[in-house]
Amino acid sequence: MNIAQIFTNNQQWIEEKLHIDAAYFKNLSKSQNPDILYIGCSDSRVSAEELMGVRPGEVFVHRNIANMVPNTDLSAMSVINYAVTNLKVNHIVVCGHYYCTGVKAAMQSADMGILNPWLRNIRDVYRIHKDELASINDEEEKYKRLVELNVQEQCVNVLKTSDVQKAYKDRHLTVHGWVFDIHSGKLIDLKIDFDKILESIMEIYRII
Ligand code: CO
Repeated sequence: MNIAQIFTNNQQWIEEKLHIDAAYFKNLSKSQNPDILYIGCSDSRVSAEELMGVRPGEVFVHRNIANMVPNTDLSAMSVINYAVTNLKVNHIVVCGHYYCTGVKAAMQSADMGILNPWLRNIRDVYRIHKDELASINDEEEKYKRLVELNVQEQCVNVLKTSDVQKAYKDRHLTVHGWVFDIHSGKLIDLKIDFDKILESIMEIYRII
């Protein structure tokens, strides 16, 4: 990667934007009003804005290894808090992807150093859904299913936060679980029934 090329690209991008709209950056600098918070993987192949076809200003983005929402992670918690209470987004998306190396690493017995505690959150997802995963013989299918179940559990983690519970009640903020299939480019809505999940988890996790 030629770093100097990036600055050439940037200049070209500025010119393209200004050619279409001379006030583009002037307007962009005024404020942001995104309606969606996207939580996805840091994987270089899963470019949030590009795969959704959205423009700057439309989506608030948080990315980390394997699109996790651990409740002790100050970064993820701050992003959710800011997006829900200040930006007042109406949708929160957790987007995983097939061929996620973070999920793959959590399926193997290997000492990953500082990544151990991070990946342990995915091992916890595996443990919660051990029966279902154990019934899948094909390793590739099991890997794909763990990616999906990890998305589901991270959505549940989103729903455990007080900010989201409040917004869910007040303005029916919606949580979505998606998977991006790198192999086909397709974005898949897992169509997780959160009303049903909420019913079962709220007995324990209700805060408000
Ligand atoms: Co990944």
